[in-house]
Amino acid sequence: MSAPLGAPWPASAGRDGGALVLGGVSAPALAAEHGTPAYVLDESDFRARARAYRAAFADAFEAIGTGVDVYYAGKALLTVAVARWAREEGLRVDTASGGELAVALRAGVPGAELGLHGNNKSDGEIDAALVAGVGRIIVDSLAEVDRVAALAAARGVAAPVMVRVTTGVHAGGHEFISTAHEDQKFGLSVNAGPDGGDAPAMQALLRVQERPSLRLLGIHSHIGSQILDGAGFVEAARAVLRLRADLAARTGVLVEEVDLGGGYGIAYLPGEETVDPFTIARDIAHAVATASAELGTALPRISIEPGRAIVGPSGVTLYTVGTVKPVLVTGDDGATFTRLYVSVDGGMSDNIRPALYGARYHAELANRTSTAAPALARVVGKHCESGDIVLQEIRLPGDIAAGDLLAVAATGAYGRSMASNYNLLPRPPVVAVADGASCVIVRRETVDDLLALDQG
Ligand code: LLP
Repeated sequence: MSAPLGAPWPASAGRDGGALVLGGVSAPALAAEHGTPAYVLDESDFRARARAYRAAFADAFEAIGTGVDVYYAGKALLTVAVARWAREEGLRVDTASGGELAVALRAGVPGAELGLHGNNKSDGEIDAALVAGVGRIIVDSLAEVDRVAALAAARGVAAPVMVRVTTGVHAGGHEFISTAHEDQKFGLSVNAGPDGGDAPAMQALLRVQERPSLRLLGIHSHIGSQILDGAGFVEAARAVLRLRADLAARTGVLVEEVDLGGGYGIAYLPGEETVDPFTIARDIAHAVATASAELGTALPRISIEPGRAIVGPSGVTLYTVGTVKPVLVTGDDGATFTRLYVSVDGGMSDNIRPALYGARYHAELANRTSTAAPALARVVGKHCESGDIVLQEIRLPGDIAAGDLLAVAATGAYGRSMASNYNLLPRPPVVAVADGASCVIVRRETVDDLLALDQG
């Protein structure tokens, strides 16, 4: 085995006799056993990242005198096995729908260690959360405060609630994944609202306190995703702590918890920057300690919700190359060049991120290495539209041919979880690898699965 390949590949990735090896299993063996396309998940890599986030935040916040809970954000990828791994590494699980909640419960995660998010939860989802005894429901609107209160009263329970606020901090990769500025659908603003009275966030906190069937746990802020430095988190933490102090001044109640959300960025390309959990945890802890001291309020317990940073780098998508087509292209400067269109057996149905966010990825031949001169290539899928692009631009060996395997790195987060059946392609399996063995944790969909849904 070669030395580890390093980011953006998972920790176990290396090469053996030319072939890419993941978790001790070669890519050709994985393709032969499980077919392609397939999402391959390095279990040890996932566990190591979960442990690192937990240790980094526990250490940093213990040092300032408070505790931390790390919730794995299941929206990045949630399967029963993944939820179990997260729990075994000491993480709780954040869910964002009844489906995610059901998978986490199936994995044996106790309700008390689950959170339920969503800007438009159904009554059914809220009720399922109450029945499961979830540790927190994060309410996202004034109307939802009333709905959760009514459903909890009907069940005769006091629902533990956090209020999701928007702090005005603008952070994150693409506009679609930036969530704390004002003009979007999430949360309640800490600034003035349309009715000119108290800020919507304050109104919601006061309303939760008034409802006997609700128990106000704290304040929640999630500023965005794929964030690479700590400044946004620090600013958001200060704003949330100020709101917490304002609420205490008005009502005498200092809420116990502050959740600072997820959003920690990862490297998608070789040489790209990534977040060091230990550094960012220290920066955030310092900001929480300083702001609390300035405000004269006791330290809150903190929680965070990383998704991508735990599972993103653990996942690799394996494809088989089909059609390879050289196309003569005229560039902006009028010069012509050849672009090699390399088609793989999946595409925007298993990874929508390039089409949706212009996301960029790294790929390598996975069944062999090649000394052929690199060709300027674009990796495309098999769907019926030209925007079906997996890699916009990459240099691949010029002798790449039908039957080769191509591995795309860092697809663990928001790949399978955002997959579709466009063109009625069955969704690929999720295959876990560890210690030289592979195991299917979500099986491949079949055409029969698709037909079973169609009632004719
Ligand atoms: N907590 C809350 C309330 C969230 O809304 C999210 C992500 C997370 C935690 C986890 O964020 P992470 O640590 O994974 O960045 N589909 C997009 C990402 C959308 C993120 C939505 N919320 C993408 O593929 O980049």
